[in-house]
Amino acid sequence: MPRARAPAPAEAGGERPRRLRSSPAIRGLVAETDVRPSRLVMPLFVASHPSAAPPGLPALGRRTAEATAVEAGRLAKAGVRNVLLFGIPDRKSPDGRAAWDPKGPVPSAIRAIKASHPDVGVLADVCLCEYTDHGHCGVVVDGTVDNDRTLPLLARTAVTYAGAGADLVAPSAMMDHQVAAIREGLDEAGRTGVGIVAYAAKYASSFYGPFRDAAGSAPSFGDRRTYQMDPRNRREALRELRLDAAEGADVLLVKPALPCLDIIAEARATFDLPIAAYQVSGEYAMLRAAADAGRLREADAVAETLGAIRRAGADFVVSYFAGSYVPGPDGGP
Ligand code: PBG
Repeated sequence: MPRARAPAPAEAGGERPRRLRSSPAIRGLVAETDVRPSRLVMPLFVASHPSAAPPGLPALGRRTAEATAVEAGRLAKAGVRNVLLFGIPDRKSPDGRAAWDPKGPVPSAIRAIKASHPDVGVLADVCLCEYTDHGHCGVVVDGTVDNDRTLPLLARTAVTYAGAGADLVAPSAMMDHQVAAIREGLDEAGRTGVGIVAYAAKYASSFYGPFRDAAGSAPSFGDRRTYQMDPRNRREALRELRLDAAEGADVLLVKPALPCLDIIAEARATFDLPIAAYQVSGEYAMLRAAADAGRLREADAVAETLGAIRRAGADFVVSYFAGSYVPGPDGGP
């Protein structure tokens, strides 16, 4: 019996990609991306009183500033060294003034974290929607959100968070020129070392619903389509990213994540700034609901989606799964 000759690589059928998939060890050698906890940011909600999370969505509960610091310490121990803070104030108002109260929930939590866990990286979301009584992301004049009257309020809020010790501020209001206004405010306040993670390409998405329930920030009239982007648009995202880069953003963030993998990939290919993505509350809720219904295995689905977001080009990912994600030895499923 003549021995079967292995086809030369050049012959049809000669390429055998399965050779490099033969075992976890070999797959680990050639994996192109990984999802380490150091690449994840956990969002946390701060209020003066704790509140239970909605059923099935444990990451959407509210904590006091002190409890937030304890949680940040727990996360850091598990390798998730960065948190993104949102505040829910005791009182909402037309201009959202509680946002820049140095005694408000976010500055209190920043100080508590930095006092007990100085190595934790603290990102602070800068927006007014949790603080305004109408739930819009800026000041409302004659029924519309007034861009230029909102800018100094966002800058003041960012300076307050920087003063409390935030490492990075993350403006998410989608006002034109907000990055420039915040950069200028920070620099004037002597906070040149505080960076800006710009929610640059932020779409008007149906996937923010669970967040708005958790933060009590649903708009009381209208919607956010006059300032957040139309999900049908791609070129517009590139324009927004370019403008925020030009205004001085240190990181460009795309949001939501899974519906925007094309935008993440294009942002990565176009800019040399770090790119971030936000796997938002609705993405979290979809996966949680499917897992609770026994339709998929949560750990595998989470690793796959986070991996896809990293593969598309995100350097880091904000995700409600950050606190429960346990990577395999290769930083994958
Ligand atoms: C504040 C803000 C929102 C989210 C992040 N920052 C809500 C919104 O724009 O309505 C959404 C995050 C999520 O859904 O997890 N403007």
